[in-house]
Amino acid sequence: MSTSGYYRTGCHRMAPFYDHLVALALLPAGGEMRLRRAVLAAASVEPGQRVLDLCCGTGTLAGLLAEEVGAAGEVVGVDFSEAMLAAARRKVRASNAAFLHANAEELPLPSDRFHRVTITLALHELTARGRRNVLAEAYRVLQPGGRLIIADLHYPPGRLKRALFRLYMLLETENAWEMVREDLPAVLKALGFGPVQQDVGFGGFLQILTATKPLPAATPAPPGQE
Ligand SMILES: C[S@@+](CC[C@H](N)C(=O)[O-])C[C@H]1O[C@@H](n2cnc3c(N)ncnc32)[C@H](O)[C@@H]1O
Repeated sequence: MSTSGYYRTGCHRMAPFYDHLVALALLPAGGEMRLRRAVLAAASVEPGQRVLDLCCGTGTLAGLLAEEVGAAGEVVGVDFSEAMLAAARRKVRASNAAFLHANAEELPLPSDRFHRVTITLALHELTARGRRNVLAEAYRVLQPGGRLIIADLHYPPGRLKRALFRLYMLLETENAWEMVREDLPAVLKALGFGPVQQDVGFGGFLQILTATKPLPAATPAPPGQE
Protein backbone atom coordinates (compact mmCIF):
# COMPACT_ATOMS: atom_id res chain seq x y z
CA MET A 1 0.00 0.00 0.00
CA SER A 2 1.40 3.43 -0.86
CA THR A 3 0.68 6.46 1.31
CA SER A 4 -0.99 9.63 0.09
CA GLY A 5 2.26 11.56 0.64
CA TYR A 6 0.24 14.29 2.33
CA TYR A 7 0.54 15.69 5.86
CA ARG A 8 -0.89 19.05 6.97
CA THR A 9 2.08 20.70 8.64
CA GLY A 10 -0.29 23.13 10.38
CA CYS A 11 -1.20 20.21 12.68
CA HIS A 12 2.39 20.04 13.88
CA ARG A 13 2.68 23.80 14.35
CA MET A 14 -0.46 24.03 16.48
CA ALA A 15 0.89 21.57 19.10
CA PRO A 16 1.85 24.21 21.76
CA PHE A 17 -1.64 25.68 21.88
CA TYR A 18 -3.73 22.74 20.55
CA ASP A 19 -5.48 21.98 23.85
CA HIS A 20 -6.76 25.57 24.14
CA LEU A 21 -7.75 25.63 20.48
CA VAL A 22 -9.78 22.42 20.63
CA ALA A 23 -11.50 23.50 23.86
CA LEU A 24 -12.54 26.76 22.17
CA ALA A 25 -13.55 25.17 18.84
CA LEU A 26 -15.80 22.63 20.57
CA LEU A 27 -17.71 25.17 22.67
CA PRO A 28 -20.58 25.51 20.11
CA ALA A 29 -20.84 21.71 20.10
CA GLY A 30 -21.30 21.53 23.87
CA GLY A 31 -17.69 21.45 25.04
CA GLU A 32 -14.70 19.19 24.59
CA MET A 33 -15.46 16.85 27.50
CA ARG A 34 -18.91 16.17 26.12
CA LEU A 35 -17.31 14.85 22.94
CA ARG A 36 -14.62 12.88 24.80
CA ARG A 37 -17.27 11.25 27.02
CA ALA A 38 -19.41 10.34 23.98
CA VAL A 39 -16.39 8.68 22.33
CA LEU A 40 -15.67 6.73 25.52
CA ALA A 41 -19.32 5.62 25.63
CA ALA A 42 -19.22 4.51 21.98
CA ALA A 43 -15.97 2.63 22.61
CA SER A 44 -17.28 1.04 25.82
CA VAL A 45 -13.89 -0.48 26.59
CA GLU A 46 -13.41 -3.09 29.27
CA PRO A 47 -10.54 -3.44 31.72
CA GLY A 48 -7.64 -5.34 30.17
CA GLN A 49 -8.41 -4.40 26.56
CA ARG A 50 -5.92 -3.05 24.01
CA VAL A 51 -6.86 0.26 22.39
CA LEU A 52 -5.19 2.19 19.58
CA ASP A 53 -5.82 5.93 19.28
CA LEU A 54 -4.86 7.06 15.77
CA CYS A 55 -3.72 10.65 15.18
CA CYS A 56 -3.77 11.03 18.97
CA GLY A 57 -2.53 14.63 19.07
CA THR A 58 -1.75 15.75 22.62
CA GLY A 59 -3.13 12.50 24.06
CA THR A 60 -6.26 13.73 25.84
CA LEU A 61 -8.40 10.80 24.67
CA ALA A 62 -5.56 8.29 25.09
CA GLY A 63 -5.23 9.34 28.74
CA LEU A 64 -8.93 8.81 29.38
CA LEU A 65 -8.84 5.44 27.60
CA ALA A 66 -5.85 4.38 29.71
CA GLU A 67 -7.93 4.98 32.85
CA GLU A 68 -10.75 2.85 31.44
CA VAL A 69 -8.65 -0.16 30.40
CA GLY A 70 -6.78 -0.14 33.72
CA ALA A 71 -3.34 -1.51 34.55
CA ALA A 72 -3.97 -4.81 32.73
CA GLY A 73 -4.89 -3.00 29.53
CA GLU A 74 -2.85 -1.07 27.00
CA VAL A 75 -3.34 2.14 25.05
CA VAL A 76 -1.16 3.11 22.11
CA GLY A 77 -1.40 6.62 20.70
CA VAL A 78 0.00 7.18 17.20
CA ASP A 79 0.77 10.55 15.64
CA PHE A 80 2.95 11.94 12.85
CA SER A 81 3.91 15.05 14.83
CA GLU A 82 6.76 14.77 17.34
CA ALA A 83 5.56 18.02 18.94
CA MET A 84 2.07 16.58 19.53
CA LEU A 85 3.62 13.39 20.92
CA ALA A 86 5.91 15.34 23.27
CA ALA A 87 2.84 17.12 24.68
CA ALA A 88 1.03 13.76 24.99
CA ARG A 89 3.94 12.18 26.87
CA ARG A 90 4.06 15.15 29.27
CA LYS A 91 0.31 14.96 29.89
CA VAL A 92 -0.26 11.20 30.08
CA ARG A 93 2.04 9.52 32.60
CA ALA A 94 0.04 6.28 32.93
CA SER A 95 2.29 3.22 32.65
CA ASN A 96 -0.25 1.45 30.41
CA ALA A 97 -0.09 4.20 27.74
CA ALA A 98 2.59 4.51 25.06
CA PHE A 99 2.99 6.99 22.23
CA LEU A 100 4.39 6.08 18.87
CA HIS A 101 5.68 8.30 16.07
CA ALA A 102 4.23 6.89 12.86
CA ASN A 103 2.15 7.63 9.82
CA ALA A 104 -1.34 6.27 10.49
CA GLU A 105 -1.51 5.36 6.79
CA GLU A 106 1.09 2.60 7.32
CA LEU A 107 1.16 1.44 10.91
CA PRO A 108 4.20 -0.44 12.20
CA LEU A 109 1.84 -2.60 14.25
CA PRO A 110 0.73 -6.24 13.93
CA SER A 111 -2.60 -7.25 12.43
CA ASP A 112 -5.59 -8.34 14.58
CA ARG A 113 -4.12 -6.84 17.77
CA PHE A 114 -6.53 -4.23 19.15
CA HIS A 115 -9.99 -4.51 20.69
CA ARG A 116 -10.74 -0.89 19.82
CA VAL A 117 -9.36 1.71 17.43
CA THR A 118 -10.34 5.36 17.82
CA ILE A 119 -9.72 8.36 15.58
CA THR A 120 -11.10 11.67 16.70
CA LEU A 121 -11.05 15.07 14.97
CA ALA A 122 -8.37 13.88 12.55
CA LEU A 123 -9.90 12.15 9.54
CA HIS A 124 -10.82 15.55 8.08
CA GLU A 125 -7.11 16.46 7.97
CA LEU A 126 -6.42 13.73 5.40
CA THR A 127 -6.94 13.47 1.67
CA ALA A 128 -9.49 10.98 0.33
CA ARG A 129 -6.67 8.50 -0.32
CA GLY A 130 -5.19 9.16 3.13
CA ARG A 131 -8.58 8.55 4.78
CA ARG A 132 -8.93 5.22 2.99
CA ASN A 133 -5.40 4.18 3.91
CA VAL A 134 -5.93 5.04 7.58
CA LEU A 135 -9.29 3.29 7.75
CA ALA A 136 -7.85 0.23 5.99
CA GLU A 137 -5.04 0.16 8.56
CA ALA A 138 -7.59 0.49 11.38
CA TYR A 139 -9.37 -2.55 9.93
CA ARG A 140 -6.14 -4.54 9.66
CA VAL A 141 -4.98 -3.97 13.24
CA LEU A 142 -8.42 -4.57 14.79
CA GLN A 143 -9.20 -8.01 16.14
CA PRO A 144 -12.18 -9.70 14.47
CA GLY A 145 -15.15 -8.49 16.51
CA GLY A 146 -13.21 -5.32 17.44
CA ARG A 147 -14.67 -1.87 17.01
CA LEU A 148 -13.61 1.33 15.25
CA ILE A 149 -14.88 4.63 16.61
CA ILE A 150 -14.59 7.79 14.52
CA ALA A 151 -15.55 11.24 15.79
CA ASP A 152 -15.34 14.13 13.38
CA LEU A 153 -16.98 17.14 11.82
CA HIS A 154 -20.48 17.04 10.39
CA TYR A 155 -22.16 19.61 8.15
CA PRO A 156 -25.12 20.72 10.31
CA PRO A 157 -28.65 21.38 9.12
CA GLY A 158 -30.14 24.89 9.31
CA ARG A 159 -29.02 28.21 7.86
CA LEU A 160 -27.60 29.72 11.04
CA LYS A 161 -25.60 26.63 11.98
CA ARG A 162 -24.34 26.25 8.43
CA ALA A 163 -23.16 29.86 8.47
CA LEU A 164 -21.29 29.23 11.74
CA PHE A 165 -19.86 25.99 10.35
CA ARG A 166 -18.65 27.73 7.18
CA LEU A 167 -16.96 30.35 9.35
CA TYR A 168 -15.15 27.63 11.28
CA MET A 169 -14.21 25.86 8.05
CA LEU A 170 -12.14 28.88 7.02
CA LEU A 171 -9.55 27.35 9.38
CA GLU A 172 -9.68 23.99 7.66
CA THR A 173 -8.52 22.72 4.28
CA GLU A 174 -10.46 21.44 1.27
CA ASN A 175 -9.95 17.93 2.72
CA ALA A 176 -12.36 18.75 5.53
CA TRP A 177 -15.07 19.87 3.10
CA GLU A 178 -14.52 16.72 1.09
CA MET A 179 -14.85 14.56 4.20
CA VAL A 180 -18.10 16.12 5.45
CA ARG A 181 -19.61 15.54 2.00
CA GLU A 182 -18.39 11.95 1.83
CA ASP A 183 -20.55 8.93 2.59
CA LEU A 184 -18.29 7.59 5.35
CA PRO A 185 -20.49 4.57 6.19
CA ALA A 186 -20.20 3.46 2.54
CA VAL A 187 -16.40 3.89 2.67
CA LEU A 188 -16.23 1.75 5.82
CA LYS A 189 -18.44 -0.97 4.34
CA ALA A 190 -16.31 -1.06 1.18
CA LEU A 191 -13.27 -1.71 3.40
CA GLY A 192 -14.96 -4.75 4.95
CA PHE A 193 -16.50 -3.35 8.13
CA GLY A 194 -19.88 -4.70 9.26
CA PRO A 195 -22.90 -2.51 9.97
CA VAL A 196 -21.98 1.09 10.68
CA GLN A 197 -23.77 3.24 13.23
CA GLN A 198 -23.70 6.97 12.53
CA ASP A 199 -24.79 9.30 15.33
CA VAL A 200 -25.02 12.98 14.60
CA GLY A 201 -25.14 15.19 17.67
CA PHE A 202 -23.53 18.14 19.36
CA GLY A 203 -25.86 20.59 17.67
CA GLY A 204 -25.33 18.76 14.38
CA PHE A 205 -21.67 19.89 14.22
CA LEU A 206 -20.13 16.48 14.96
CA GLN A 207 -20.71 12.86 14.12
CA ILE A 208 -19.65 9.65 15.79
CA LEU A 209 -19.41 6.50 13.70
CA THR A 210 -18.93 3.04 15.10
CA ALA A 211 -18.11 0.05 12.92
CA THR A 212 -17.19 -3.52 13.79
CA LYS A 213 -14.69 -5.78 12.05
CA PRO A 214 -16.73 -8.90 11.36
CA LEU A 215 -15.86 -12.27 12.88
CA PRO A 216 -14.74 -14.85 10.32
CA ALA A 217 -17.63 -16.86 8.93
CA ALA A 218 -17.93 -20.21 10.72
CA THR A 219 -16.44 -23.05 8.65
CA PRO A 220 -19.15 -25.63 7.97
CA ALA A 221 -18.49 -28.98 9.69
CA PRO A 222 -17.43 -31.80 7.34
CA PRO A 223 -20.28 -34.07 6.22
CA GLY A 224 -21.26 -36.57 8.87
CA GLN A 225 -19.88 -34.42 11.71
CA GLU A 226 -22.62 -31.78 11.88
C1 LIG B 1 -6.80 18.02 14.89
S1 LIG B 1 -5.63 16.96 15.61
C2 LIG B 1 -6.62 15.79 16.53
C3 LIG B 1 -5.91 15.26 17.73
C4 LIG B 1 -6.67 14.31 18.63
N1 LIG B 1 -7.07 13.12 17.95
C5 LIG B 1 -7.85 14.94 19.29
O1 LIG B 1 -8.92 14.33 19.33
O2 LIG B 1 -7.70 16.03 19.87
C6 LIG B 1 -5.13 15.97 14.21
C7 LIG B 1 -3.92 15.12 14.51
O3 LIG B 1 -3.74 14.18 13.45
C8 LIG B 1 -2.35 14.02 13.25
N2 LIG B 1 -2.14 13.45 11.92
C9 LIG B 1 -2.52 13.97 10.73
N3 LIG B 1 -2.18 13.16 9.72
C10 LIG B 1 -1.57 12.07 10.30
C11 LIG B 1 -1.01 10.88 9.79
N4 LIG B 1 -1.01 10.61 8.48
N5 LIG B 1 -0.49 9.99 10.65
C12 LIG B 1 -0.50 10.24 11.99
N6 LIG B 1 -1.01 11.35 12.53
C13 LIG B 1 -1.55 12.26 11.70
C14 LIG B 1 -1.79 15.42 13.43
O4 LIG B 1 -0.41 15.43 13.67
C15 LIG B 1 -2.62 15.91 14.61
O5 LIG B 1 -1.98 15.63 15.83
